[in-house]
Amino acid sequence: MRFLSVLVTRRFTAINGQNVQSVSSIRRCREFSVFSQLCKNDDAVNSDEGGRFYVTTPIFYVNASPHLGHLYSAVIADCLHRFKLLQGFHSRFATGTDEHGLKIQQAAEAAGADPQSFCTEVSERFKGLFDSCDISYTDFIRTTEQRHKRVVEHFWSLLWNKGLIYRGNYEGWYSTQDESFLTETQVVDAVDSQGNKIKVSVESGHKVEWMKEENYMFRLSVFRPQLLDWLREDPAVVQPECFHQHVLKWLQQDLPDLSVSRHRSRLQWGVSVPNDPDQTIYVWLDALLNYLTVAGFPDSHQGWWNVVHHIVGKDIIKFHAIYWPAFLLAAGLPLPKRLYVHSHWTAEGKKMSKSLGNVVDPLQSSQVFTTDGLRYFLLRQGVPDSDCDYYEHKVTKLLNAELADSLGGLLNRCTAAGLNPDQVYPPFCPEFFSRDGGRAVDEDYQMLDSVKNLPVVMEQHFRSMNIYKALENIAACVRQTNGFVQRHAPWKLDKRKSEERQWLDTIVHVSLECLRIYGILLQPVVPQISDKLLSRLGVRSEERKWVNLNFLPKYYGMECPLTGRPLGQNSGVLFSRLETENIHKDKPNQTKKGQKK
Ligand code: MSP
Repeated sequence: MRFLSVLVTRRFTAINGQNVQSVSSIRRCREFSVFSQLCKNDDAVNSDEGGRFYVTTPIFYVNASPHLGHLYSAVIADCLHRFKLLQGFHSRFATGTDEHGLKIQQAAEAAGADPQSFCTEVSERFKGLFDSCDISYTDFIRTTEQRHKRVVEHFWSLLWNKGLIYRGNYEGWYSTQDESFLTETQVVDAVDSQGNKIKVSVESGHKVEWMKEENYMFRLSVFRPQLLDWLREDPAVVQPECFHQHVLKWLQQDLPDLSVSRHRSRLQWGVSVPNDPDQTIYVWLDALLNYLTVAGFPDSHQGWWNVVHHIVGKDIIKFHAIYWPAFLLAAGLPLPKRLYVHSHWTAEGKKMSKSLGNVVDPLQSSQVFTTDGLRYFLLRQGVPDSDCDYYEHKVTKLLNAELADSLGGLLNRCTAAGLNPDQVYPPFCPEFFSRDGGRAVDEDYQMLDSVKNLPVVMEQHFRSMNIYKALENIAACVRQTNGFVQRHAPWKLDKRKSEERQWLDTIVHVSLECLRIYGILLQPVVPQISDKLLSRLGVRSEERKWVNLNFLPKYYGMECPLTGRPLGQNSGVLFSRLETENIHKDKPNQTKKGQKK
């Protein structure tokens, strides 16, 4: 795709770079069809996979309520899922809750509740949050469901029958908080809040305990060469690159076999080892299998399993990039297509933690900033390879600048009665954009180029999961379009003069076309705002797909189906400005002045 986009960029630079008096709309039309062809070719590549796509979030521990970081994982996956749907893929999106293990058992005990109803109660909170934030999952899985238990038992038996699980003894460190086994080099000395000497995990800082138990071991060590091959053969399999390198580095070290069960006396809350009720299956083996359960393993996973893409936070890479592919190799199943790793959110410069009392409640934030506002902020500011800081002032500033003023202001200007008295998609007059005596200037052609290239650029950034870069590009184009309107000041034109009126209509037409492209491309990010924008432009629901991204067809010598069509109903400002002093109130506040005119 990078190659294709370079090609597209070169082609368009070539047209606009030369002294183009001679460039006719026929030529532009030919170039445009080259562009469409390139998009089609790309789809052809994708259809190798049967046009299917399967994306997952990690499943969330139910020991506590959801926080901002959890919503972030879900918003990324949701955005990718919606993006694939937009492109015409048949996409599935799985999320859910991780409900077994010592950590949950202890949390239920501490709450004085029986584990099953404790899990149900917290799982519902996740579901409620996701539903209210437009997380359009197609599957919500709970590891306590029967369908999942059957898969775990089946998978265990598969590995056992292949001799890849054996009875053994585990002696070493265990972190209940991370549900993780650690080697001597992965722990350090520390002191707890009461002044006691303890050992903690180097990576997470969580307390570890020494455990010595007879249990079942998985032959992880034998898979080291295959894991290395997998990572080396496809350097993009773990993204971003820095995390790919981390995993390769881990694999340079010794890879001991992995304990995959706990004695029943310590852990009751989980799936029993088949034929050995004294042992409970390790929660990470249980949890990772959720991805297969959703895909329909063992009977009907084929069509989906080869297109699985996992979104994971940086703290759980080891489980997804080492244990998980090793389990899959052991079972003879294909490995994930991609592991997209994201970094963490801190709150006002500090790690979010219950003890500091700075855990951001995503439900509350979505009520203050609106669902789309919070989604936009997370995706626009979230950078995959470094941690990002959340503070309300920053959210307010970004949303006011980009959603309320820039995007909302542009829509408002071009649909207001002043510039658009007939409330229609006005006609475009190509002569004004002729290099020979037209009224458009260099910056206008540059803007047309940027907007035309936007889908290709967007696709490129989605492929590497740099959604923030895709949004950066959209925001830059919106600024260019505002600049275009500002530069030509259509409100100063005399509507009574025919040529002036036609130029005004052309300016508005071009701006509405830009807005239409932004609206279509923003659907995966801010579905409600995009819907409002496109509805205001009069764009029908069947006209909001990837194939409809034919920007400004009249300029390229084609018919524009929207010309002359009445605008949709005005249902108010696109995004209400937020006032800094009101951000602690429950609802976003609208300015008295409304939006910039
Ligand atoms: N249950 C395991 C995952 C099992 S998947 C087979 C788990 N759950 S979790 O609830 O602790 O974390 C779920 C996701 O939330 C992880 O991707 C994690 O990185 C992410 N986040 C947790 N805290 C976060 C931030 N502060 N910021 C961003 N994401 C964070 O791990």
